[in-house]
Amino acid sequence: MKVLVIGAGGREHALAWKLTQSPHVQMVYVAPGNAGVGRDKNLQVVNLTDVVALREWAQHNDIGLTVVGPEAPLAAGVVDEFRAHGLRIFGPTQAAAQLESSKAFSKAFMERHGIPTAQYQAFEDAALAHAYVNQHGAPIVVKADGLAAGKGVVVATTLEEAHAAIDNMLLDNSLGVQHNAGRARVVIEEFLDGEEASFMVIAHGLVAVPLATSQDHKRLLDNDQGPNTGGMGAYSPAPVVTPEIHARVMREVIQPTLKGMQADGIPYTGFLYAGLMIGPQGQLKVLEFNCRMGDPETQPILMRLKSDLLEALLSATDTDPAALTKVELHWDRRFALGVVLAAANYPSTPRKGDAIQGLSADQDAVMVFHAATQVVDKQIVSNGGRVLCVTALGDTVRQAQVHAYEVVDAIHFDGMQYRRDIGHRAVRK
Ligand code: AMP
Ligand code: GLY
Repeated sequence: MKVLVIGAGGREHALAWKLTQSPHVQMVYVAPGNAGVGRDKNLQVVNLTDVVALREWAQHNDIGLTVVGPEAPLAAGVVDEFRAHGLRIFGPTQAAAQLESSKAFSKAFMERHGIPTAQYQAFEDAALAHAYVNQHGAPIVVKADGLAAGKGVVVATTLEEAHAAIDNMLLDNSLGVQHNAGRARVVIEEFLDGEEASFMVIAHGLVAVPLATSQDHKRLLDNDQGPNTGGMGAYSPAPVVTPEIHARVMREVIQPTLKGMQADGIPYTGFLYAGLMIGPQGQLKVLEFNCRMGDPETQPILMRLKSDLLEALLSATDTDPAALTKVELHWDRRFALGVVLAAANYPSTPRKGDAIQGLSADQDAVMVFHAATQVVDKQIVSNGGRVLCVTALGDTVRQAQVHAYEVVDAIHFDGMQYRRDIGHRAVRK
């Protein structure tokens, strides 16, 4: 079978790499892909991003399954477009993708269906938002309603920061948020204390098969300092998700979400990602939903997946959702840990075009997944914010960390930024 993966990041490189390992797969195409995709003989780049053009290309090229990596094509309705032409595609419809694309939608959804989340209120009027913040005090969290590439959230430790974030999101839009229905809106919510974890499932109707757990590192700098980013590194599994918490997440979050979507007339098919905050006494709250796998969490998760991903995704796109109940995923017992190498000036205005040195051949236990890379005059150069994700396996988090950083130390590009402490919470335990 020929498979198409839509996207250009490290997550899509990892998805495509994993799919090529299926004996049923003849070729994996990645649109628009990156330089790492172009280096693998089983992978091929397709230079398209427009939803209709992708659908036409998939039809003409006899693509058996399309897997959507990022949120933007989902929010643009790529699944609706493919399905309307009888093409098999794994991902939520445009309506279902609102779980991620609109914070106001997802907060109201969680409230309606009793899914645990932070107290909140949504505002379009800046004066009312300022008054709410004054009334509740800091710390407090201000979120833009609309896709913002992981950068639309300000965890304000002071009232000044909260007021500035409101003005920024409602008046100037300097973050470049893609507004829903053309209107700027913010969600202001209670600050939650605890440890975060990323919990993803393959979902189809009411059936969910959990993927391995993971933990991301959202802040740019060591010791969780600096601005929020799309994610600077991740490891899997996340020890904070104990077997007991795992069972609670399935029961209190995943199942009610799938039931709620079905009840609301927008049944969910696709990867479903719950960003969790686990409090010091085991309190469980959903910070956000994403309608896709996490980046960089996908890279360590898929390095540990032993089962055939294609078979699982075919079951998850079967006309009978019960097909997915037969899928059981097997995981490498080892830990996997990925370190993101980002460009100069990431996350605000990443510089492009820096030549990347020291890329070696991939090995069994270490993979260098490409994200924003391209080839210019036979040289691989950076092409955006997150450039590479070096991902390694190890018997312990510490060993995975040592392996990953050995490979990181050999790679260089001007302005390269990365954290030295990926995995710190699990190493300390
Ligand atoms: P989100 O995009 O909603 O997941 O937010 C991005 C990041 O901001 C999260 O991964 C958390 O680190 C932080 N964050 C979001 N909401 C809260 C909250 N209510 N309390 C504390 N931190 C939060
Ligand atoms: N790494 C977090 C995300 O993909 O949203």
